[in-house]
Amino acid sequence: MTLNVGVIGTGMIGQDHVRRLSRVLSGVRVAAVTDVDPDRARGVAEGLPDARVHANGQDLIDDPGVDAVVVTSWGPTHEEYVLAAIAAGKQVFCEKPLATTRDACDRILDAEVAAGRRLVSVGFMRRYDEQYRAMKAVVTGGEIGDPLLMHAAHRNPSVPDFFTSEMIINDSTVHDIDVARWMFDDEIAAVRVLTPRVSSKAREGFNDPLLVLLEMHSGVLVDVEASVNAGFAYDIRGEVVCEDGTVELSESAGVVTKRAGTHSGRVPADWRERFVRAFDTEFQAWIDAVTAGGTTGPSAWDGYAATVACETGLIALRSGDREPVLLRERPALYDKDSS
Ligand SMILES: NC(=O)c1ccc[n+]([C@@H]2O[C@H](COP(=O)([O-])OP(=O)(O)OC[C@H]3O[C@@H](n4cnc5c(N)ncnc54)[C@H](O)[C@@H]3O)[C@@H](O)[C@H]2O)c1
Repeated sequence: MTLNVGVIGTGMIGQDHVRRLSRVLSGVRVAAVTDVDPDRARGVAEGLPDARVHANGQDLIDDPGVDAVVVTSWGPTHEEYVLAAIAAGKQVFCEKPLATTRDACDRILDAEVAAGRRLVSVGFMRRYDEQYRAMKAVVTGGEIGDPLLMHAAHRNPSVPDFFTSEMIINDSTVHDIDVARWMFDDEIAAVRVLTPRVSSKAREGFNDPLLVLLEMHSGVLVDVEASVNAGFAYDIRGEVVCEDGTVELSESAGVVTKRAGTHSGRVPADWRERFVRAFDTEFQAWIDAVTAGGTTGPSAWDGYAATVACETGLIALRSGDREPVLLRERPALYDKDSS
């Protein structure tokens, strides 16, 4: 059986997902696309066999030939399309963020709970990365004792001019926030944001790097160095410190070369290179689950909790204080997360 997917938003990641859905993964085809830029949507459809181009996201969701929906448009538009997919009873994969505000995420949770079944999966692909999965297996396996701390770094080589200090939290650190919740199977209790010496490569008025401290309810502390003008490459680091040992992501996914007194390996150029297999694994799991009549992966609750932690991070960035993360009560629908 082939799952017919419709893609809303054919920009950078939308095109990358269309490529993997149409050329890399199995049991799926891209049946329809749409974008507010119709030429862009048409250009993407031209490279696909028999894909329809819709005038807007609602028309795509209403298309009886679309079994499930992928939302890869700008963050502020996600709420509208996720709610429309829930109303149509169609499974939806939404790139992060689930929605850009706590209130919008609340409305999605309410709609999904009213529907009585999980219809939403959120694109936190690090949960599908082999290294992060191996790290979580060690932490939860208990072989090096209880976790105490996690050190993380999220270093982007550079960012476009429209990027702001707030986006370091909302667009970069959001992945580390999701990793922390997933790694320790716990919610974040509080956030602090420290502002180190500003990089000379940062624009005027831009706090870069940031040091984000996440305090889990268990007491585990997670420090995230978030830096978006690192220059040299896309460098993702993580180390969990436990009572009897440590576990860390490896330095290089490829080969290591030793020569003339040096030891070197490749650092990925960007997030696409670093997480290409994680995106493939994430989508294949979602396709298989949706074809079987359900869903899998990070839930709308995970999307909600990440957005609330980011909102709290922005308050902490402004206040310089420890800010509590206040979540609503988790609906029973999310008690057994299938990720
Ligand atoms: N998981 C990840 O690591 C990751 C990486 C990159 C982007 N993203 C997320 O994916 C989303 C898209 O990011 P991007 O980098 O591809 O952005 P982009 O600007 O390259 O593409 C977004 C596309 O959405 C279209 N669009 C905007 N409003 C629309 C609407 N109302 N209906 C239909 N189309 C609309 C735009 O015209 C554009 O083509 C964002 O939410 C971003 O945070 C996630």
